[in-house]
Amino acid sequence: MTLSTVAAQSADQEIPYYDSVGNECAMFEHAYAQRLPLLLKGPTGCGKTRFVSHMAAKLGKPLFTVSCHDDLTAADLTGRYLLQGGETRWVDGPLTRAVREGGICYLDEVVEARKDVTVVLHPLTDDRRLLPLERTGELLEAPDDFMLVASYNPGYQHILKSLKPSTRQRFVAMTFDFPPPKVERDIVARESGLESERCAALVNLAASLRAMKGQDLEEGISTRLLVYCATLIQAGMPIRDAARATLVEPLSDDADVQEGLMEAVQATFG
Ligand SMILES: Nc1ncnc2c1ncn2[C@@H]1O[C@H](COP(=O)(O)OP(=O)(O)OP(=O)(O)O)[C@@H](O)[C@H]1O
Ligand SMILES: [Mg+2]
Repeated sequence: MTLSTVAAQSADQEIPYYDSVGNECAMFEHAYAQRLPLLLKGPTGCGKTRFVSHMAAKLGKPLFTVSCHDDLTAADLTGRYLLQGGETRWVDGPLTRAVREGGICYLDEVVEARKDVTVVLHPLTDDRRLLPLERTGELLEAPDDFMLVASYNPGYQHILKSLKPSTRQRFVAMTFDFPPPKVERDIVARESGLESERCAALVNLAASLRAMKGQDLEEGISTRLLVYCATLIQAGMPIRDAARATLVEPLSDDADVQEGLMEAVQATFG
């Protein structure tokens, strides 16, 4: 597995900023305390990853994040024998590390992973909480401070890439969406440094752009892109240029759709 697919966040990491929208923090804490796995569903850029790193730091647990892709195998998660200095040595994968050391393993875009991954996840995500390592002959029992969190974007799913009911039904699940306007304004202001009033205008604009979803757009504009836009404006970029580069170009390649989006930008900012 390439290094870019795994990221570890240490247990004593400063708590990343996360503005809660509902009861998601309490739900996470309960799931963790009750040793239940958690599944987060929601569109791109709505705060799923930020939420998980916030909660891991808040609970003081290391976080092992794996970005799943269609080549991801069970061995990428559990570990493998590697040749090191003429010797073969077993090296734990991120899932095994989280089980051995205690911590949170976060499987981002879990629907992308290959089918054999579910074989590993099933005994770990039901009441057994076991991770069998066939290659080493070990059977690891997950400690109380191990938690599995997975996420995916239902918008991208197609029939071949959905979680089996037997997998889904092993998780406590929550739907994420873009934050309500006031919360989103605060997030954009905090992340970009742009003054609150101007962020509120961007959030209003996002509402009208999101209303265009479905007609020609696959997905509504994300909170992430609003943060980008505000960041460029705060850095001194003219609003129209910032909006084109962050709220229009990343959404569509279609000239007509782009024009429609720019009209909405113009209606807001003139
Ligand atoms: N509730 C929130 N509190 C603080 N920041 C937020 C919140 N929601 C979104 N953000 C901002 O939006 C950005 C994108 O969020 P994040 O990366 O967590 O999205 P995501 O849901 O994981 O998207 P993807 O599915 O594409 O991975 C964050 O970097 C942060 O700036
Ligand atoms: Mg993410």
